[in-house]
Amino acid sequence: MKSLVFNFPFPSPLGALITQGMGAEEGRFLLKSFPDGESYLRLESPVKDRSVLINAPLVHPNGWILDLLFLSDTLRAQEAKQVILVAPYLAYMRQDKIFHPGESLTSATFAHLLSTHVDSLITVDPHLHRYHNLSELYSIPTTVVHAAPLISAWIHENVQDPFLIGPDAESSQWVKEIAKDLPFIVLNKTRHADGHVRITWPQEVTIGNKTPVFVDDIVSSGETLLEALAHLKNQGTKAPICLAIHPIFAGNAYEEIKAAGVHKIVTCNTIPHPSNQIDLSPLLLKALKEFQQ
Ligand code: R5P
Repeated sequence: MKSLVFNFPFPSPLGALITQGMGAEEGRFLLKSFPDGESYLRLESPVKDRSVLINAPLVHPNGWILDLLFLSDTLRAQEAKQVILVAPYLAYMRQDKIFHPGESLTSATFAHLLSTHVDSLITVDPHLHRYHNLSELYSIPTTVVHAAPLISAWIHENVQDPFLIGPDAESSQWVKEIAKDLPFIVLNKTRHADGHVRITWPQEVTIGNKTPVFVDDIVSSGETLLEALAHLKNQGTKAPICLAIHPIFAGNAYEEIKAAGVHKIVTCNTIPHPSNQIDLSPLLLKALKEFQQ
């Protein structure tokens, strides 16, 4: 019996590639709201004894996490063989510590919630900073896919004489992996309580005639990139390229970064966005194959 792929909350180009690449069938469900805002969900595909995958980029999850749980519980209630969650972007990884007394460790609560409603999780480069492994958080089997090989290939094919820049210490894990033989630098960032960031640029490092390429895992408010970009202005470099794995682009972040004199913004398709140029479906399909064996 073919596996089923449910694209949640709506169809996405990545979901279509995964469904096709797996030779799976698209899972159908009806989701609507009652006048008071409560949800109604009904499965329209028979799922009994079938492997089911939910593809859900967990961006802005608060609005629909409950609906995702309704879907996974309904799949289980109708005896799907297993429910695998493919969350190319895994939300709630950044509050990985109680920074100030009284704060909620939202990463732990979110992980507990997902761990009790799906059988396994596949994701792309989760924001592992103070946690070193997803198993510190998730009690279900997890697989992490790394975008670095495809980002590295994109840079090698598309950018002449690149100089890679990681905006903060956390980014060093991706930048080093992506750079391989290319020159790179990792900057120092401090984030203030109000969300503003301050980045320092080591005086002895200049980009010269090379093409600056910023690489970060997440772009959310855009503060990090905008602050890092400001340093290049002082150096009068070529217009930079900004590369990110997870394009959240909250509020006007995308427009603000574009207006800051960048040549190009390129992202991976973990979250659907017009800047998606690096397709990670080959890596996810490989992981799914190994996962299902
Ligand atoms: C932080 O440690 C991450 O690696 C990103 O640099 C950060 O999430 C970017 O966020 P924002 O765009 O809000 O500055």
